[in-house]
Amino acid sequence: MNDWKTQIDKNRVPSHVAVIMDGNGRWAKAQGLPRINGHFQGVETVRRVTEACSEIGVKYLTLYAFSTENWNRPKDEVDALMSLMVSSLKAELPTFLNNNIRLKAIGNLSSLPVECKEELDETMAATSHLNGLTLILALSYSSTWEIKNAIQQIALKVKQGVLEVEDIDDQVVDSNLNTAEFPHPELMIRTSGEVRISNFLLWQLAYAELYFTETMWPDFSKEDFYQAIVNYQNRERRFGKTSEQIDAP
Ligand code: FPP
Repeated sequence: MNDWKTQIDKNRVPSHVAVIMDGNGRWAKAQGLPRINGHFQGVETVRRVTEACSEIGVKYLTLYAFSTENWNRPKDEVDALMSLMVSSLKAELPTFLNNNIRLKAIGNLSSLPVECKEELDETMAATSHLNGLTLILALSYSSTWEIKNAIQQIALKVKQGVLEVEDIDDQVVDSNLNTAEFPHPELMIRTSGEVRISNFLLWQLAYAELYFTETMWPDFSKEDFYQAIVNYQNRERRFGKTSEQIDAP
């Protein structure tokens, strides 16, 4: 087995990694289990990947835990996912506190069931002083929803006369997104073989490296995560420039 962790250049670890955790349902189905068992197992992977981020010094980890479109799933599955969220947050609080992990959330949080929203608010408040890894859950999140809201907020400021149209720049857009306080992800990982962004951080991923793996989320190991980091580090990030410009001293 490859020891990917030892191949990581500690000085070039991405500060923000975003993940589309996909394949829980198919993983469960392949074993003849109900879909929710895949989500249970998926929580184990969340724990592993969070630990891996802390170990190598990733500062921000954003997980796509529930999309706006996921509300259209069968009610049983939505209910089960929401209670899983509540029980996981309760169970993980000591781990967050012991490992200096600050919890944050993005998305239409007011659309979450009351118990879920309350647990989330409590966990975020209890960890707000921590300064190790920031774990950001995208919940009831879609990027088009987020961008539409940002446009409305910006338009309102123009209408109120507190912002000039010509002053709208990238920074203004950024500051009106849910992610205003976080840097953009340098790396986005999606598991399960699907090759799509699925309404996730469309603005913020503009220059991210995208990494797709066939591995289902419940099977995604720490070593798989480290492999993605090594793969990212072997890429040349040109930001529209030429290789020669990048190599110039
Ligand atoms: C995608 O797999 C996964 C989800 C929609 C839910 C992921 C949520 C968790 C793992 C729980 C996270 C909990 C915390 C506290 C962070 P899928 O159901 O779309 O799988 P499929 O594509 O195989 O059907």
